[in-house]
Amino acid sequence: MISPATLCMLLQAQTAKLREFRIADMFKPLASPAQSEKEVAMLTFAITGVIFVVVASLICYAIFRFRRKPGEDVHQEPAQVYGSNQIEVAWTVIPILIVFILVGVSARVIAGVQNASPPKNTLHLTVIGHQWWWEVVYPDYGIRTANEIHVPVGAEGKMATYLQLQSADVIHSFWLPQLAGKTDVIPNRTNYMWIDPHRPGVYFGNCAEYCGTQHANMLLRVVAQEPADFKQWTLNQQRKQPQITAAIPAGGQLQTASLGNGANQLSSAARNQAAFESLSCVNCHTVQGTAANGKFGPDLTHLMSRSTIGSNAIDLTHDNLRKWVDSPQDLKPGCLMPSLKLTNRELDQVVAYLETLQ
Ligand code: CUA
Repeated sequence: MISPATLCMLLQAQTAKLREFRIADMFKPLASPAQSEKEVAMLTFAITGVIFVVVASLICYAIFRFRRKPGEDVHQEPAQVYGSNQIEVAWTVIPILIVFILVGVSARVIAGVQNASPPKNTLHLTVIGHQWWWEVVYPDYGIRTANEIHVPVGAEGKMATYLQLQSADVIHSFWLPQLAGKTDVIPNRTNYMWIDPHRPGVYFGNCAEYCGTQHANMLLRVVAQEPADFKQWTLNQQRKQPQITAAIPAGGQLQTASLGNGANQLSSAARNQAAFESLSCVNCHTVQGTAANGKFGPDLTHLMSRSTIGSNAIDLTHDNLRKWVDSPQDLKPGCLMPSLKLTNRELDQVVAYLETLQ
């Protein structure tokens, strides 16, 4: 049973997401693929809009012009007109021309976006869709993260980031409304897309193909950064976390008395890490450099460098993190992380340890 406090928190999170979705306005593109796709969309709207106005006007004209007038004999047929070559040629040829224009323009834009090949210096990423989160791999940097994709900004039209899209389970769809169109993410197949965010900022996106219970909470964000900031981010992400539990002797008890004050701190940090590693967290999660090497869930190596938990389901704060570790099923019902029924002490230790993963 969900408590009123949790329900309230979920409602707040949903409202925040709605606000974000308004920001992710596909009619305000900020990357070249999204820009050219918007132009095709506007051309299509314009042509179909004119067709709608013409057809609707003719229908209205016919309704009013040929309505029954007072005193008219209902049984008398109006003048019968049989065929008109000019009209038939016109309503065959004009639609064919319109279809040719729309097909031609769409094909040119699709080919232009899809056939662009990555120039040198392009950042290559692999994004893997999971139920219900995104795994993000930077093969050239040895970085593995989740849900928040850091990329450098790109000069207009210069492909800054090239993405390979794969799925670990079912069909998802990768969509960043302001950066590029939707691309399906399909098991046993690699699809490609590229982005060149024109200015730094956070770009919101989501899974756009129904993929199960928590499809709506399979959100993502792209953080576009100036090259220097991006470099700084990669340096931090490449840092491994220390395995400090080695400081605990086999007996399990730390001899802190002889080690002074610094050792007291070390001991609590080591105990927290030991608690984390003794629980089944490590069967699914990796913390690079430590004994935790599970592959099923998101990599937690630099968890605290992200701003959300559960694929943007909730903000990453101390209280939210504690709630999430305690009972992810309350916050994201159906998600594949079980509630481990930790004691309060274990919960404190695990959260304290996670909060050191900067
Ligand atoms: Cu993944 Cu919907």
